[in-house]
Amino acid sequence: MEKVIYVDNNATTRVADEVKEAMLPFLTELYGNPSSMHTFGGQVAKYIRDARENVAQLLGARPEEIVFTSCGTESDNAAIMGILRANRGKRHIVTSRVEHPAVRSLCKYLENEGYSVTEVAVDREGLLDMQMLEDSITDNTAVVSIMYANNETGVIFPVEEIAGLCKSKGVVFHTDAVQAVGKVPIDLSRSNIDLLSLSGHKLHAPKGVGALYIRRGTSISPCLIGGHQERGRRGGTENVASIVGLGTAADLAKRNMNVENTRVKRLRDKLEKEILAKTPDSFLNGKKDQRLPNTSNISFEYVEGEAILLMLDSLGICASSGSACTSGSLEPSHVMRAMGIPFTAAHGSTRFSLSIYNTEEEIDYIIGRVPKVIKRLREISPFNKKDSFTSDFGVGLGGHPRSH
Ligand SMILES: Cc1ncc(COP(=O)(O)O)c(C=O)c1O
Repeated sequence: MEKVIYVDNNATTRVADEVKEAMLPFLTELYGNPSSMHTFGGQVAKYIRDARENVAQLLGARPEEIVFTSCGTESDNAAIMGILRANRGKRHIVTSRVEHPAVRSLCKYLENEGYSVTEVAVDREGLLDMQMLEDSITDNTAVVSIMYANNETGVIFPVEEIAGLCKSKGVVFHTDAVQAVGKVPIDLSRSNIDLLSLSGHKLHAPKGVGALYIRRGTSISPCLIGGHQERGRRGGTENVASIVGLGTAADLAKRNMNVENTRVKRLRDKLEKEILAKTPDSFLNGKKDQRLPNTSNISFEYVEGEAILLMLDSLGICASSGSACTSGSLEPSHVMRAMGIPFTAAHGSTRFSLSIYNTEEEIDYIIGRVPKVIKRLREISPFNKKDSFTSDFGVGLGGHPRSH
C-alpha cells in the first residue's frame, strides 16, 4: 500500500509502539486472571493497579475514582444510566444538540422511555447557549451531560463553568471528554465535574478500552452487574492487555501534552491558514481560539464532502467529512445543522484531525493538494453554480451523521 497521510485522528489513532510493547506480555505469557488466588494470576493485578494510577494521574483523579470500561460509548452509557438508576425520582436530562451519538442517541432512547430531555442550542461558532443551559436545569433534572470538546469542530465547552453551575443547583454533571483527554490538560482535583468519559483509541491505545471517572461520593448504580471487579461498579473479567495499553497511553499523553499544544497546534494552524488562503469560498467551522489543538473543520462551498474525501483518499490523504452518504443521498451532520451552517457549506465540510505522528512534510503535501482538489471538483460538480443549491436542510435527507 502507498504511504498514507493520516489526518483522521478524531476517528481513531495509531497504537503507539510503547503501548503495543507494554501489552504484548498480557497477550502471551502473562495470561492469568487478576482475580485468581494463585501467584500466576494475582501478579497481573499489579499491572492493572499501575494502569489505573496512570489514568488517574493524567486526569488529576484518585485511582479508585477510575473504572475501566470497553469504550467511550460504554462510559457515556454507564454514567448517564447509572445516575438515572440511582436517582429514580428525577426524570429530566439536560444535554446539547451537538453531542456524539454515544450520548445523543441514548438520550433519544430515554426520551422514548418517558424521560424528558432538553438539548441546549449552540451558535454559529459552535458555542453553547449558557443561558439556555442554566434555564433548563429544574428540580426534576437528574443529570447534565455536556461534551468537553466536540469531535467534529474541536470546539471546547466551558465544562468547569457548567460543573460549577450544576454543583450550585445540586445536579450531577457528566462530561464526554473522549476527544479532550490527552489533548488538553485536565485536572479533576480542582474541578466540580462528577463523571468523565474517555476512550483509549483516541489517545494511541487500542480500540475496545475506555474509562469512566466517578468522583468519590457520587451516588451511581453499577453499569454491569456481576463479579466484584472494578469495586463492584463494572463486573466482568478485566481486558488486561488493553487496560495496560491504556495506562501506558495515558502516561505517554501526559508527557506529550506539551507537544500536542505546541507542535501539533502549529501544524494544524499552518494547514488551516494555507488552505483557507488558497481556496476561494472556504471558511473555518467552530470558534477559532476555543478549540482542541489538533482539529480543523473547513467548509468548502458548493462541493460535496464525500467527493472531497474520495479524491483526497486517492491521493493517500485520510480525512473526514461533515456529511455522509447513504443510498445516494447526502445529509449534513447534526453538528453542522445545529450550528446553522448553510447547506451549501455544511455539505462540503471536511475535518482534518492531527496527531503527534504527523510531520511537516505531510502537512505541506496536504496544503499542496487540497486547493487543487476543490478547484477540480468545482469544475466537474453539477452543483458548481451557486444557484443550483438550496439552503433547505430537507434536501437529501436520509443520510446518517458522522459518528466519531
Ligand atoms: C465525543 C465522542 N464521544 C464518544 C465517542 C465514542 O467512543 P468509542 O468509539 O470508544 O465508543 C466518540 C468516538 O468517536 C467521540 O468522538
